[in-house]
Amino acid sequence: MDELASNVRRNDASSTSKPVLRLLTCGSVDDGKSTLIGRLLFDSGGVPEDTLAAAKKLSETFGTTEGDLDYALLLDGLQAERAQGITIDVAYRYFSSPKRKFIIADTPGHVQYTRNMVTGASNCDLALLLVDARNGISDQTRRHACIVNLMGIRDVVLAVNKMDLVEFDEARFREIEAAFQEISAKLGIASVTSIPVSALLGENLTRRSSSMPWYQGKTILQHMEDVDANVAISGAGFRMPVQWVCRPNQEFRGYAGSIVSGEVRTGDAVVALPSAQTSQISDIVTYDGSCDSAHVGDAVTLSLTTDIDISRGDVICTAKDRPQVANQFSAHIVWMQQQPLLGGRTYVLQLGVQRALAHVSRIKHKLNLETLDATPTHKLEANDVGVCNISTNKPLVIDPYLDSRHMGGFMLIDRATNETACAGMIEHALYRGQNIHLQSIDVSRDQRSEIKGHKSCCLWFTGLSGSGKSTVANALERRLHENGFHTYILDGDNVRHGLNQDLGFTDADRVENIRRVSEVSKLMVDAGLITIVSFISPFRAERRSARERFGDGEFIEVFVDTPLEICEARDAKGLYAKARAGKIPNFTGISSPYEAPDAPDIHLAGGEKTPDELADLIIKELTNRNVIFAD
Ligand code: ADX
Repeated sequence: MDELASNVRRNDASSTSKPVLRLLTCGSVDDGKSTLIGRLLFDSGGVPEDTLAAAKKLSETFGTTEGDLDYALLLDGLQAERAQGITIDVAYRYFSSPKRKFIIADTPGHVQYTRNMVTGASNCDLALLLVDARNGISDQTRRHACIVNLMGIRDVVLAVNKMDLVEFDEARFREIEAAFQEISAKLGIASVTSIPVSALLGENLTRRSSSMPWYQGKTILQHMEDVDANVAISGAGFRMPVQWVCRPNQEFRGYAGSIVSGEVRTGDAVVALPSAQTSQISDIVTYDGSCDSAHVGDAVTLSLTTDIDISRGDVICTAKDRPQVANQFSAHIVWMQQQPLLGGRTYVLQLGVQRALAHVSRIKHKLNLETLDATPTHKLEANDVGVCNISTNKPLVIDPYLDSRHMGGFMLIDRATNETACAGMIEHALYRGQNIHLQSIDVSRDQRSEIKGHKSCCLWFTGLSGSGKSTVANALERRLHENGFHTYILDGDNVRHGLNQDLGFTDADRVENIRRVSEVSKLMVDAGLITIVSFISPFRAERRSARERFGDGEFIEVFVDTPLEICEARDAKGLYAKARAGKIPNFTGISSPYEAPDAPDIHLAGGEKTPDELADLIIKELTNRNVIFAD
């Protein structure tokens, strides 16, 4: 998208420097969006000869217009992708009028393409929302209006299409217009213009309709020509996230990046965040050499009067009007992954060049698309729009999204699949942690474990219910204890009677179960204990997050690999029988998944050896790793 923006600027500078308007088109599947865009392109002369000839030919055979040109077929690129069901991104269409250049982000209408719409909306100035005059406002219209507003698009055109099919009836148009006004007022959309059109007949697109003399407002094209561009991006002062520290020789040190808001001049006082070191701009270097000032959108290298420590991902800002630095914030999110949001799960958070690990610490509410009211929930599913608190593992430099799309817009990425799980728009930082500082403690973990005569570690047992985890853990602890080592067992069943009493067995609850117990086990390792954790812990992602809480070699994953048939045959607690009878929902191995470790530190064949033999193997491994020392 940055590339797109710079291309546009290049075109701009090189040609007539006509201003550019980026607009998003959205609507449900049969609202006539393709026809409207095709007609706009055609009427403004933006269709190349060969495309036109091909579309005319296709219209004779496949058109829905009895041999006349079917304008929708001018966009056959996107249509073809749709027909084949392949992943559809956003199709960008370019055309211009005497006054302006336009870039149309065309996104598919189906609900499953919400993610494309979010992508398309992220840098647009205007949204063209289509509704079919016969059907009026739909759920999709509300969803789109809501996303468009969240993404910071201030100007919305409601194109009430297919007016020819309702006999150009003003009353029908006014009814839809009023219904939409209600929605936009509730959402707080800054500016709404409703226009009655017939895309098919070209009425009120580029020329005024003679069939609707009662409408005296602008045509779609007139509105597109007159509306203010770039109003969506406002607020924030000078910000430049550092993409690269440039040190070609001993004399020069510069920080390269794109200015995402505001402007900068030589001599300006700046601050580098999150470190908060201050300095002054000594030089601004661009592709064309040094200059005195640079603005939003410019790619520059900045040098400073003093040598301060800045690295990739840091943000250089004006000292006067600083962004926030926070590791917790509240945000709107549009959940896009098929798998629902799992609050305790760690995702990668990407905010421009800044990256961190993050989890959703609280889902506050989701938006009911019928009523547009906030509904309390613990769950967000694909295409839900909600408000959450997010915690990161390090401080990020942020602005509210409505002040800066670049400093306030982020994505959460699934660590296992690299899929974009959601798009997020920051509301504000949360400073609940601001007045809580880490207290330094004189006795260290090593000193605590040394006095006990061994090192501390976390032995993390994973495996199916009935695999023998607890039995082996028990045998192991007994042995260690007999030999004078200091241990503790955190067992799933036991912890679920106390600390985790409030959790059940849904995916979300299991994720939270493991997040909490991994925090507790970290405290116990800190206390100097050999900590044995025995939980099914069925998901790779959470075991990985648990491992990441510890230092090198401190986390030892023990996979008690007992086949399901054996666990089920043992059925010590009678749970498998109940699960098979449908009396326990979400039972691991039966109706809930277990993701076996790929490369456990210790792999135990649970069905083949006795618990004591397996405990022996672990003791050997602890000796090899110098956690305990043989006499
Ligand atoms: S985990 O999946 O969240 O790690 P945990 O180890 O805490 O599970 O708890 C598993 C224990 O809860 C099992 O050993 C079993 O005794 C009991 N249990 C009750 N219901 C279920 C269920 N639906 N799935 C798995 N275990 C269950």
